[in-house]
Amino acid sequence: MGAAAHAVLLLVGVAAVVSGASAQLCEEFYDRTCPDVHRIVRRVLKQAHKDDPRIFASLTRLHFHDCFVQGCDASILLDNSTSIVSEKFARPNNNSARGYPVVDAVKAALEEACPGVVSCADILAIAAKISVELSGGPRWRVPLGRRDGTTANLTAANNGLPGPRDNLTTLQQKFAAVGLDVTDLVALSEKKIWKVALLSTNLKSDKKNTYRVYAFEFQLWAA
Ligand code: HEM
Ligand SMILES: *[C@@H]1O[C@H](CO)[C@@H](O)[C@H](O)[C@H]1NC(C)=O
Ligand SMILES: *[C@@H]1O[C@H](CO)[C@@H](O)[C@H](O)[C@H]1NC(C)=O
Ligand SMILES: *[C@@H]1O[C@H](CO)[C@@H](O)[C@H](O)[C@H]1NC(C)=O
Ligand SMILES: *[C@@H]1O[C@H](CO)[C@@H](O)[C@H](O)[C@H]1NC(C)=O
Repeated sequence: MGAAAHAVLLLVGVAAVVSGASAQLCEEFYDRTCPDVHRIVRRVLKQAHKDDPRIFASLTRLHFHDCFVQGCDASILLDNSTSIVSEKFARPNNNSARGYPVVDAVKAALEEACPGVVSCADILAIAAKISVELSGGPRWRVPLGRRDGTTANLTAANNGLPGPRDNLTTLQQKFAAVGLDVTDLVALSEKKIWKVALLSTNLKSDKKNTYRVYAFEFQLWAA
């Protein structure tokens, strides 16, 4: 607990330095401004899953690939423009990150219910949480109130996201760069295995995963 609390404090500090602003996230963030936010996301995800059984896995990965680059700021959703070079075409994302149209559908549903309220970064966080839940996985609490970034960083996505051929040293370095340690690397990797296994076997979660996934979200929300 001491170590985890320390990591979160460290990440809040880093986020404050990087963004120049620091705000406290909380689970109740949309209680008054968009009280049905979870229900709405869940409804769109369930609908999408009927046509695309892989969507829960894809949305979980999207949140992870968002958070590893500039923090959880929805930068992964930004398209090329005069001022933006999209992260969507970074090596770890190009042709493998997917689920963007479903994120758009969630955003559209939320705009209808509560216009201009829920950030895309929070949508990705909630979608990942509900995806794991709907896959029969563990539950964790999602503090909300993230702000969307207005910049992307293709280089950071290429350099910072873990690659399938990275050795342990490199993986440790990439995790350390976002304030995560060896325990988190193991937890996250095992979650990945659990999640990918889930795709083919519909494996049920076990108690260990509950703790691990929670630890993952606990630290990433502050990043
Ligand atoms: C630790 C280093 C990691 C590496 C090297 C890695 C690499 C990869 C690769 C190469 C794929 C296959 C992409 C494709 O075939 O199109 C993949 C898929 C996936 N990864 Fe990871 N990953 C890592 C960590 C994680 C973590 C921490 C999570 C969860 C938070 C995660 C969630 C997923 C999911 C859910 C998929 C399947 C996505 C889909 O079907 O759309 N991975 N990963
Ligand atoms: C976006 O820009 C990147 C980098 O310049 C490029 O590789 C990619 O093909 C572009 N994508 C689209 C859809 O224009
Ligand atoms: C992304 O994938 C497309 C389609 O396979 C390919 O044409 C393009 O070169 C890739 N972009 C990058 C930056 O690797
Ligand atoms: C993008 O990320 C790289 C690290 O990979 C960093 O060196 C660079 O300063 C970043 N660019 C901006 C504009 O933040
Ligand atoms: C790990 O990979 C990095 C980058 O490719 C390389 O520089 C380093 O020597 C490798 N380390 C080990 C222990 O293999």
